[in-house]
Amino acid sequence: MNYLTNLFSDKDPAEDYKTKRVAGKQHSILITGGAGFLGSRLCSRYIDLGYRVICLDNLSTGRMTNIARLLNHPRFSFVKHDVTRPVQLPRRVSMIFNMACPASPPKYQADPIHTMKTNVQGALNLLDLAMEHGARILQASTSEVYGDPEMSPQQESYHGNVNTVGPRSCYDEGKRAAETIFHDYRDYHGADIRIARIFNAYGPGMDPTDGRVVSNFITQALQNKPITVYGDGSQTRSFCFLDDMVDGLMSLMHCEEDRGDPINIGNPDEFTVAELAGLVLSQTGSCSDLSFRALPQDDPRRRRPDISTARRALGWSPKVSLRQGLMETIPYFEAEISSVSANSFAPQMVQ
Ligand SMILES: NC(=O)c1ccc[n+]([C@@H]2O[C@H](COP(=O)([O-])OP(=O)(O)OC[C@H]3O[C@@H](n4cnc5c(N)ncnc54)[C@H](O)[C@@H]3O)[C@@H](O)[C@H]2O)c1
Repeated sequence: MNYLTNLFSDKDPAEDYKTKRVAGKQHSILITGGAGFLGSRLCSRYIDLGYRVICLDNLSTGRMTNIARLLNHPRFSFVKHDVTRPVQLPRRVSMIFNMACPASPPKYQADPIHTMKTNVQGALNLLDLAMEHGARILQASTSEVYGDPEMSPQQESYHGNVNTVGPRSCYDEGKRAAETIFHDYRDYHGADIRIARIFNAYGPGMDPTDGRVVSNFITQALQNKPITVYGDGSQTRSFCFLDDMVDGLMSLMHCEEDRGDPINIGNPDEFTVAELAGLVLSQTGSCSDLSFRALPQDDPRRRRPDISTARRALGWSPKVSLRQGLMETIPYFEAEISSVSANSFAPQMVQ
């Protein structure tokens, strides 16, 4: 099947009420990293709203199963491409979400130079594309720009505590550099930018083998295998359910007042990793034990977003508690595990 053919269709997107109301004159949208966990949910949401969606992805961590239901949709196109190379599109887009980059530590550490290139060269290529198309562009940045923070909760004004030469640096410094490039394109070229600092999202659609803490814990608990906890489990994280996160990203993209300064998007409820393990054990009914391992280098001790800017500027705040979100997520992982043979199923071991 040639998914590229959809790109060249002359058919106008659905002119339904929702599209006009939400998008005004804007109809076509590019989502890089659109086959990944967050990108694929954005693709679905915009298709459901009546947009034409181009999903661009190199499939390094993305999965075609994430976008399977969209592949034959007349307003959806998939392009296999790496954002480190210049991007050309056969039709105009008015919005770009730059979600392309592996988010899981074992995945982004597997080829750190390519991760850095994805962040830096990818930002340059997509900003050039945005300028050419006159499109608004949103950068998926991260709480990792705060590194191992010395203050909590983390406000956008905090400049962070990041190691430039550790195993996480390709990601953290790459995302920091991308923020700088976005800001400079705004100031020097008038680019219409948005920067979302995303804090730990989770939910259905995550790759069960990607090595993030929520997917590791749930898959281990469901198989009654030991739950791997790094350090003593007292480090904290704030987990934001997928639908809340996507609502936050869309609110930021569509906010007319935003000037492009970074905005934290996350759930401020803070949990220790040990508390997360306890919740997962009780909600799965598992009899797994906890297995403690050494804390990886530069692992952040605290993660908690101050979201007062997002509340004020976007009128957005998360609605789903961790307990509710896990209830929605655990059945997804049950189904994933049962579709893969027990022997070949093994989560990666860095969170
Ligand atoms: N999920 C989170 O908790 C979280 C937290 C902070 C930031 N983010 C950011 O949000 C974005 C999406 O995260 P996710 O959780 O969906 O991750 P993901 O790994 O599931 O998705 C990333 C997607 O980008 C694609 N990709 C990677 N490098 C690429 C390249 N060079 N060219 C084209 N495509 C490429 C992958 O194939 C994948 O489909 C990432 O930029 C990530 O850094 C996510």
